[in-house]
Amino acid sequence: MTAHPFLDGTVKPLFIDGQWRPARSGDSFESIDPSTGHVLTRVARGDAADIDDAVAAARRAFDSEWQSWKPFDRQALMLDVAAAIDRRFEDLARLESMDMGAPLARTLSFRRWIQQTFRYYAAQALSIRGDVLSNSAPGDYLSYSLKLPLGVVGAIIPWNGPLITQLWSICPVLATGCTLVLKPAEEAPLSTLMMAEILHEAGVPKGVINVVPGPGPTAGAALAAHRDVDKIAFTGSTLTGRKIIEASATNMKRVAVELGGKSPDIVFADADLELAARGAAMACFNNSGQVCYAGTRLFVERSIYADFVEKVAEVGRSLKVGPSLDPQTQLGPLASSMQLEKVTGYFDIARADGARIVSGGERLGGDLADGFFVSPTVLADVDNSMRVAREEIFGPVIAAIPFDSEAEVVAMANDTTYGLGSGIWTQNLGRAHRVARSLRAGMTWTNCYAVTDPGVTMTGARQSGYGVKGGPWHLDEYLLNKTVWMNIAGE
Ligand code: NAI
Ligand code: MG
Repeated sequence: MTAHPFLDGTVKPLFIDGQWRPARSGDSFESIDPSTGHVLTRVARGDAADIDDAVAAARRAFDSEWQSWKPFDRQALMLDVAAAIDRRFEDLARLESMDMGAPLARTLSFRRWIQQTFRYYAAQALSIRGDVLSNSAPGDYLSYSLKLPLGVVGAIIPWNGPLITQLWSICPVLATGCTLVLKPAEEAPLSTLMMAEILHEAGVPKGVINVVPGPGPTAGAALAAHRDVDKIAFTGSTLTGRKIIEASATNMKRVAVELGGKSPDIVFADADLELAARGAAMACFNNSGQVCYAGTRLFVERSIYADFVEKVAEVGRSLKVGPSLDPQTQLGPLASSMQLEKVTGYFDIARADGARIVSGGERLGGDLADGFFVSPTVLADVDNSMRVAREEIFGPVIAAIPFDSEAEVVAMANDTTYGLGSGIWTQNLGRAHRVARSLRAGMTWTNCYAVTDPGVTMTGARQSGYGVKGGPWHLDEYLLNKTVWMNIAGE
């Protein structure tokens, strides 16, 4: 068993109202290291009763003197939190790697991103502002808008990168003066619990951030349906996202849903093919394919199809797959045994549907047999109607599809229910802009993939969901844009 200061052999409790406490039911569940299949620790299993407690604590905190914190106070708090995270960052990254399997090289690389995210939102805390709106109503009225914190926010996050995903609710909550009940995924709750400890120690008032791990169908569903929650921010599968939207109808709470994808990555024959091959491979293989905007449908112009697909497969073969804590590892395991079953199931589906496995396509054995490892996989001779081209696999599996013309590839790329990421590789400037505009997706990367920055908006289209993260408009989703009318008429 690998030692970690946060894992002391006791059941990790819930964090509610500034205190650590067991679940009301007394139940707990196992958190597994996907590199070894071993239990890392047990975690208190929150359910509806604990969610009630957490929402009540968040409501009390919202109604408390937290409201009187000035923008500069909230900014100073966020910068203190950022510094506190930095002091314990290596432990935090290691815990995330142990819990969900991302290689240490990946989780350690989040350091800069996390610091910049806190600093970006800390800056935004100072620039929340309403407007004076002119009006022509008969009489003499002053009308203006106030941006007020929305209230209690519920966030439900998945297991593929909780260290990052949790910040998309923590930072806007702290910047605006909302409060939060955060429910991490059963598969990887530990970095979120450790973050709660850091936030608390850095001075976040009690009840402002509460963390309740527990199952989606009980704890998650209770949060989504809760009548005293003003907004839900959900990240996860499209199937569950639909349930969240339905549950939100109990009290018409605001909803933002960032869901799945089957993102197209398009390589034209005129592209810089070395750059494109590496880029297209990592667009999907990063984090073992467990990324919402992973470029999983690789469209390649027919004249270069065979050679290019082989190049991408070669990148896949060269990647070092291994345990998350091994510093040499480039791709870790899948995050859970369920995910392993799902991904290997798609290898069978691919074969049955007539796709050709160019590389990978198997579970890894030997030293890795106890973990949930698969090899980076490239499927050729895929048709856009095959299941491997339509369904989100959420593993390191590229489906390579040939195309003959720009019009044809745009149509095929858009022939999906999703619309999250997309990529274009070409040196033709006009084509790059034209295709970028035509792709029905929230994000398009050209001659790169998956570049992100806290100051630049991420969003989805179609069944990849709605709402934005990052950039100048994210805070609006945590604010009530209230109108005030004042009769200022004289005698
Ligand atoms: P999921 O969407 O069910 O889980 C995400 C979060 O939602 C977890 O915290 C879970 O506990 C919670 N949840 C589940 N059911 C809920 C409900 N009824 N009400 C409220 N919250 C609920 O995804 P899951 O089952 O972990 O993975 C299944 C597939 O979903 C994956 O194989 C992948 O294809 C996709 N997925 C996509 C993600 C993305 O970012 N695009 C992230 C995670 C999963
Ligand atoms: Mg785990």
